[in-house]
Amino acid sequence: METEQLANAPAETLPQDGTEAPAAPLPAVCFENVKYSYDEEEGGEFAVNGVSLTIAEGEFVAVLGRNGSGKSTLAKLINALLRPTEGKVTVFGLDTADTKKAFDIRKSAGMVFQNPDNQTVASVVEDDVAFGPENIGLPREEIGRRIEYALDAVGMTQFRSATPSRLSGGQKQRIAIAGVLAIQPKIMILDESTAMLDPKGRREVMDVVKKLNREQGMTVILITHFMEEALEAGRAVVMHRGEIVMDGTPEEIFARADELETYNLTLPRAAYICKRLQQAGMPLKNAFDAEELAEGICASLQRG
Ligand SMILES: Nc1ncnc2c1ncn2[C@@H]1O[C@H](COP(=O)(O)OP(=O)(O)OP(=O)(O)O)[C@@H](O)[C@H]1O
Ligand SMILES: [Mg+2]
Repeated sequence: METEQLANAPAETLPQDGTEAPAAPLPAVCFENVKYSYDEEEGGEFAVNGVSLTIAEGEFVAVLGRNGSGKSTLAKLINALLRPTEGKVTVFGLDTADTKKAFDIRKSAGMVFQNPDNQTVASVVEDDVAFGPENIGLPREEIGRRIEYALDAVGMTQFRSATPSRLSGGQKQRIAIAGVLAIQPKIMILDESTAMLDPKGRREVMDVVKKLNREQGMTVILITHFMEEALEAGRAVVMHRGEIVMDGTPEEIFARADELETYNLTLPRAAYICKRLQQAGMPLKNAFDAEELAEGICASLQRG
């Protein structure tokens, strides 16, 4: 019960010196000069190489970068699946190097992975969602409440008795998200969780994630190769060779197309078309998604 209370405790710390002023809220995630090498022997390459990064509670951060740039390693360092070779990672103030805190850290930072077929453990949806809460030893009634809450949050209540293997990819990923939600984490990390889905499945997952962020203030860290998905985040960071090389709003990042190209990244399609039209002389304000671009082109045509 003690660990439960700790996991659900508010992020704010009490004033250290007994004064009235509340201390600044603890960041959800803090990396201080973090390096990580899979190579035990010295002289190995660092998969994460000197990352300093602070993510506040309630942020929605997209993590971009070419294959092998260190995104998954960064994610695993957050939920203590990996521990830094150098530097320090804290999650709501808990140091991931402290093995005694691993349980609490994993409860507050849930991970959803890429393959929807590898993430179900039971043959009935509700049993699958119950797996996490059962594992942390919650009482039966509480598990029932958590299943209801989690399935409702991902819009899958009507499938509670279904067989996971018969669901669509998007539905399976929503069940995987529900399984994580049932632990009531404060941070949700999605490591290319939409990569194997069709456009409809991707949309379903993105809608759920956005809603959790906006309505519940859930901190979301979304690793993706889809630039369009990054546009839905409030902040985007670009990784390259284990380092964070760009950090800003998605619009700021995508306005720097030439720099992005050096990291093997492309623009969202609409932003690319917009840039080409601007270069061809069409008076257009910067647009990043299809809707903005269509509006811009229409306005430009009306002006003649
Ligand atoms: N288990 C491992 N053992 C050894 N090296 C690894 C291991 N996992 C990753 N690496 C290496 O660490 C570096 C970063 O890998 P990581 O998986 O973090 O990249 P990524 O950005 O997630 O790539 P992708 O987009 O392909 O998923 C790469 O050079 C990779 O080869
Ligand atoms: Mg990866």
